[in-house]
Amino acid sequence: MKGVILAGGNGTRLRPFTTIINKHLLPVGPFPMIYWPIIKLKEAGIENILIITHKEYLFKFIKLLGDGSQLGVNLSYQIQPSAGGISDGLLYAEKFVGTDKFICILGDNIFEDALISYVNEFNFQEKGAKFLLKIVENPERFGIACIDNEKKIIQSIVEKPQNSKSNYCVTGIYMYDYKVFEYIRHISPSSRGELEITDVNNMYVENSVTKYDILQGWWIDAGTPETLFQANQLIYQKLKKEN
Ligand code: DAU
Repeated sequence: MKGVILAGGNGTRLRPFTTIINKHLLPVGPFPMIYWPIIKLKEAGIENILIITHKEYLFKFIKLLGDGSQLGVNLSYQIQPSAGGISDGLLYAEKFVGTDKFICILGDNIFEDALISYVNEFNFQEKGAKFLLKIVENPERFGIACIDNEKKIIQSIVEKPQNSKSNYCVTGIYMYDYKVFEYIRHISPSSRGELEITDVNNMYVENSVTKYDILQGWWIDAGTPETLFQANQLIYQKLKKEN
């Protein structure tokens, strides 16, 4: 299986830092944020990884990571011309993915779980998608899934719901078959002008097999000053424990 990391976007919640630097180059523990999804993919045995980012920062990523050999992976790069949404960014992975299945990680998602068991299960899943969920206290910030616990299926997903009954966040760790690119071409920009990943994920819910698992360890979207600080604390706690 291949890996795709999305590291574009405008990082508006992290301004003024992101006025001069891409969010995924900010520090999380002793490394730039982008190291963590690479490390997670490598641990799961995924070494062919595509990083998608904005043209303005591409040379910085290449200067930092090169071909990936220092981290034991094989890196390629693609440019997303403008921040047209997560699904828009994903379109630039089509050539790299071909007809394989793949895992996509949003570059600002920092988490504790090892991915290997989820990836192995998805390898046995004939088609469709698999999402990793986590209970959150602020569902209005995320894509939120309504699930049928007994049948273990996702019934629907709502992006940033105002009054949600569910608090199962669809984290930015998505496993897809190559159909995802067809689905992306069927969606239209949302009211905020982006091709939303939740619209694509709902197409899987409606038309294909969509499985889920719930993350056991901590998970954080490090996209705000406060959660970036928390991500740093969690990573340093983890490193301290491991030493
Ligand atoms: O973190 C999980 C959440 O991420 C999900 O629960 C939501 O369903 C999903 O929409 C997303 O929500 P955010 O509002 O946090 O997305 P954000 O715009 O912050 O972008 C998330 C990542 O995707 C970030 O690492 C940058 C990257 N990105 C984003 C956009 C808009 C791109 O690479 N290109 C883009 O055009």
